[in-house]
Amino acid sequence: MSASLATVAYLGAAILFILSLGGLSNPETSRRGNLFGMVGMALAVLATVFGPRVGAGGIAWIVIALVIGGGIGLYAAKVVKMTQMPELVALMHSLVGLAACLVGFASYVDTSIQLAGAEKIIHEVEIYVGILIGAVTFSGSLVAFGKLNGRIGGKPLLLPGRHWLNLVALLVVIWFGRQFLAAHDVQAGMLPLIVMTVIALLFGVHMVMAIGGADMPVVVSMLNSYSGWAAAATGFMLSNDLLIVTGALVGSSGAILSYIMCQAMNRNFISVIAGGFGSGAPKSGDAAAAEPQGEVTPITASETAELLREAKSVIIVPGYGMAVAQAQHTVNEIVRTLRDKGVQVRFAIHPVAGRMPGHMNVLLAEAKVPYDIVMEMDEINEDFPDTDVAMVIGANDIVNPAAQDDPTSPIAGMPVLEVWKAKTSIVMKRSMASGYAGVDNPLFYKENNRMLFGDAKKMLDEVLGALKG
Ligand code: TAP
Repeated sequence: MSASLATVAYLGAAILFILSLGGLSNPETSRRGNLFGMVGMALAVLATVFGPRVGAGGIAWIVIALVIGGGIGLYAAKVVKMTQMPELVALMHSLVGLAACLVGFASYVDTSIQLAGAEKIIHEVEIYVGILIGAVTFSGSLVAFGKLNGRIGGKPLLLPGRHWLNLVALLVVIWFGRQFLAAHDVQAGMLPLIVMTVIALLFGVHMVMAIGGADMPVVVSMLNSYSGWAAAATGFMLSNDLLIVTGALVGSSGAILSYIMCQAMNRNFISVIAGGFGSGAPKSGDAAAAEPQGEVTPITASETAELLREAKSVIIVPGYGMAVAQAQHTVNEIVRTLRDKGVQVRFAIHPVAGRMPGHMNVLLAEAKVPYDIVMEMDEINEDFPDTDVAMVIGANDIVNPAAQDDPTSPIAGMPVLEVWKAKTSIVMKRSMASGYAGVDNPLFYKENNRMLFGDAKKMLDEVLGALKG
């Protein structure tokens, strides 16, 4: 393939990626967006493998790597459960970071690259910055992976003087950067490069370990953004325009998503990155006030069906438990049955419900719930006082009134869905266990709240049976 044909293919792929991002911003066009992305990526891979930069001898190696990598990817995509998607995404981000590091070291020791003067300095800065971002992304994403799948506890690790530690790490990285650029040969430059890589790896671990459970969404989208910048840095190192454009697209869209997440969570972006948000353990004096008091009122599936049948308006709040139980299809059946009976039913989606951005929207779309009854938090939160039944399905943190009432709570200030303002709220979950943020929920003890204990799918099947019976 000639260089100009490869450039045209790259341009086509870049346009497809932009169309893909545009499509993904709306549930109705998201399938098309995915398709654009897939075609764009296929075009990009073909243009790279058969492009002018790969010699005939290299193609065989690339095909072997593609078969192995593609095989692993296919297998992972087939076996991964929907609830494990966020961990898989975090793991993928870590691979982008690792790739940036490996490409950085490879291009530093590559003797075929002979540069001098300003070009050499620019190339070395690309390598240094690329490895720096790559290493932070790699180790940070691995810790995020551990936190999302529960192998690492959600509790933040707060080292004493952690901000000073970060500052010192930054200064050391800058100092070694100078040493690296001043080095006359690869041997001399290798030590500063390795020291910086180790510091960046430690910083990635430290940054994500310091994040409290409820603030993980911001970190996940931030690492998504970092992985984009790591890819862009790799593009600079390899002088690959498409990789630069694609990396910048992922980096900037991830940054915008992180900002939106911060706004939705009422968090300050810089403070979340610096760590320690979502960590505010209740101060001893206030601990008692934070403890939920009273007794919970259980309810049966048939009583739930009765309440739903008699309601004029119902709002359903899905959360992580609905994903675990895979209850979305039964939920849709219940919605259809109620709507047939003339009950107004809508969904209230919290921006961080579940374990990844848009998690609930994906599940509801899969179950073919009509989009026009799926509302964002801001659109529907004011309607709870005029609602007969608010049905919470496997959600916890996103409906926790302590976020509003208890300034010492780790989730204080986070906007929540005000289900307790409905005439009756019903919380469907298996036990009294806390949610991802690990905080108690006073909602369960409110007078107008009922607890429907059990697996969401099983209980909803019973509710559906009672509704139809
Ligand atoms: P959570 O607060 O995690 O609560 C989920 C609840 O579902 C749990 O309390 C659990 O209680 C229940 N549950 C689990 N399996 C169930 C099953 N089979 N049947 C019925 N219930 C089940 O979830 P949420 O309200 O959706 O809030 C999301 C949390 O995750 C927030 O803290 C958010 O910050 C965090 N987070 C979000 C993201 C993104 S981007 N969305 C990423 C990382 C972290 P039982 O064990 O008693 O059943």
